[in-house]
Amino acid sequence: MTETKIFGHRGSMGTYPENTLLGFREAIRQGVDGLELDVHMTKDGEIVVIHDESLDRTTDGSGNIKDLLLDEIKTYSAGINYSHFPAYDADSWNSMKVPTLEEVLKLLRPYDIELNIELKTYIYNYPGMEEKLLSIVKAYSNRLKVIYSSFHLPSILRIKELDNTANIAWLLDECISLPKDYMETLQLEGLHLSKNILLKHPHHWKDLYNHLRIWTANNRNEIKQLLDLKVNAIVTDFPEKALFYRSERKLFV
Ligand code: G3P
Ligand code: CA
Repeated sequence: MTETKIFGHRGSMGTYPENTLLGFREAIRQGVDGLELDVHMTKDGEIVVIHDESLDRTTDGSGNIKDLLLDEIKTYSAGINYSHFPAYDADSWNSMKVPTLEEVLKLLRPYDIELNIELKTYIYNYPGMEEKLLSIVKAYSNRLKVIYSSFHLPSILRIKELDNTANIAWLLDECISLPKDYMETLQLEGLHLSKNILLKHPHHWKDLYNHLRIWTANNRNEIKQLLDLKVNAIVTDFPEKALFYRSERKLFV
């Protein structure tokens, strides 16, 4: 069993603007084993990397992604709202735009890391999104292991139906009974659990630790517990800290 991987949540969202090329680049610099990001689909059918259904919280624009063209979305800054972060640099941060998935995949091309793409499909249905997503990943990712996840189970099942080799993982923030049965029946590669449902009853998931990616663990104590359980991956807003905690343990083995 390999060591627990550290995934940067939306890049390195505790220190850099979430879901931006800047944040992904920074997480790679820190040495992450994987990245997590969120996707929505624009009015003109492009896949963009952003957490919310709308531009309002993370950019200086407004409106729902589904109602906007990619060119309109690209007029807004995805970095300007983060001037409270210590590393804020107006020149480079303000010019950051909401990236397309294609742009992120091109950035990641040289790196041997894993990528978790979360389909944010539980509020709006984006017809044709799964097909589009698979075609972009096929065209622009080469060495990446891609894991598709969603809280909305039909989305990842559609992915699997379209590509039987795709790695799919179900996002859960509530416990389910007999999780192994779900994994086998739905051909899930993994389960992405909120930290609380794992840490409350670790024994419930005990045969599956190697298939569990746990979000979003940021403090030393919870990261330590997850490393002890040897889960597959920890998804964190502070990958640099988590990587340090992991490396620190090796010194005392
Ligand atoms: O992938 C786990 C986590 O990202 C799910 O929650 O709201 O941060 O997308 P959220
Ligand atoms: Ca997410």
